[in-house]
Amino acid sequence: MNILFASSEAHPLIKTGGLADVAGSLPRALKSAKQEVRLVLPAYPGAISRAEKLKLVSDVVLAGARTPVRLLEGWLPGSRVRLYLVDSPEHFDRPGGPYLDEAGNEWPDNAARFALFSRAVSAIAMNCAGLGWQPELVHCNDWQTGLVPALLACRAQRPATLFTIHNLAYQGLFDWANFQSLKLPLDWWSMERLEFHNQLSFIKGGLVYADWINTVSPSYAREIRSEAFGCGLEGLLQHRQDRLSGILNGVDYRVWNPGKDKLLAQTYTVRSLERKRENKQALQQAFGLPERAGFPLLGHVGRLVDQKGLDLVIELIPELIKRRLQLVVLGTGQPELEQALRTASQQYPEQIGVRIGYDEQLAHLLEAGSDLFLMPSRFEPCGLNQIYSLRYGTPPIVRRTGGLADTVSDADAANLAAGTANGFVFEQISAAALLEAIDRALGCYTQPQVWRALQSAGMSADFSWTRSAEEYLRLYQRISENPIEHPDCQRRGIRNAQVEAIL
Ligand code: ADP
Ligand code: GLC
Repeated sequence: MNILFASSEAHPLIKTGGLADVAGSLPRALKSAKQEVRLVLPAYPGAISRAEKLKLVSDVVLAGARTPVRLLEGWLPGSRVRLYLVDSPEHFDRPGGPYLDEAGNEWPDNAARFALFSRAVSAIAMNCAGLGWQPELVHCNDWQTGLVPALLACRAQRPATLFTIHNLAYQGLFDWANFQSLKLPLDWWSMERLEFHNQLSFIKGGLVYADWINTVSPSYAREIRSEAFGCGLEGLLQHRQDRLSGILNGVDYRVWNPGKDKLLAQTYTVRSLERKRENKQALQQAFGLPERAGFPLLGHVGRLVDQKGLDLVIELIPELIKRRLQLVVLGTGQPELEQALRTASQQYPEQIGVRIGYDEQLAHLLEAGSDLFLMPSRFEPCGLNQIYSLRYGTPPIVRRTGGLADTVSDADAANLAAGTANGFVFEQISAAALLEAIDRALGCYTQPQVWRALQSAGMSADFSWTRSAEEYLRLYQRISENPIEHPDCQRRGIRNAQVEAIL
């Protein structure tokens, strides 16, 4: 199949979280399954410098842009995946991150930036970008690509569209002035279409118009149809539930494999687990913690946002300190969480280590050097860190939600007896419930045989992309054989002319 994969980040070109891991590895897995998949991203400076064999292939004039957009073509590093970068310097050539400036504030022109990106993706999708190639399906990811299914919905000869929700909490909401400046069809400002509580919602473009919607774990696909997880969109998702499913993310074991990982102090496998301790020592050194015989080391890496539940860990610090353990945290995010963690590490320099920042090498070392990985998320569409920690022999402690529930099986008596236990799971969003799970984990840690069984169950589990990529492929085929006709398109003649003008 010819597939266009659109994303606002992809490892190793640019990354802020798990979306980049997925966009950097699912296309490769599809390529290995002999599909013609091409990846398209905005041309951020980092992406331009890391892409392989980049050259200018065409200039495309898009509605809403002052100058033509340049399409650069190259390769995703180290792969056979063809890459397009949408080069519009006024939108993407700037320091800072893909969504935030260097001070951590949203770029004020994000609506214009990702509308332009979506228009460029749509132009490629319609074979209007001078590439001489048309995909049969466009795979859109998160709100930054949300306008694509809406822009394509009423086009004749359009490809099928899949919209993947990696995180429903980020919706791409903008005010009326932004909506007006984007020159989108005025009738999109209605609650059946892209308006949401008096704002323009990019994600609704995907949720309303895509031929199919999926998310990154079966549990999250169920959860988002409820008020507790639906972020106000549960009604719409219930309405579309016949075309909504969940596929668990895979992991790229070429990047995340303790047997070959060049970012570790020492590589190891399930047969040489004793070598894992060299990573623990290196990790303690990196965080300035002393070695403490018999103290397990608990680790966390991630975005410091409410979703991840680190406030529960912070609340527990006085309790944790009483226990014979150490804790290391690597992350960036909400200033109050960063500050609370910094304070804790200053207060307890022998037991708590904190690094505020983004550090890929340290993230790998943390997965390998910790004894337990903490992930007490309030919600978690899939979560990759707990899957990495399984492979690194670092049993995770997780809340039973979303992808955490789908990947971690609790060390209760039945699972231990069956040999399927690989971590610790708790239910309630509360510090007490987390503490109870930590205490159970500490109990197991002192029983070498039990611990070894947990580690090997996690390390031998297979969460590679092979199976999930096959599931995606089956879904792509199903969608492209059976696209929907959105009610808006019944007045196709009129709309086509209108949509033609905005592409
Ligand atoms: P999310 O996408 O919600 O952030 P995931 O668990 O799916 O959560 O993926 C997070 C990815 O981002 C992992 O690869 C993780 O190692 C990486 N990551 C997050 N924060 C940092 C950080 N501060 N330094 C290095 N890597 C990070
Ligand atoms: C999001 C989610 C995370 C998921 C990732 C990749 O950022 O928060 O749970 O693993 O996307 O799909």
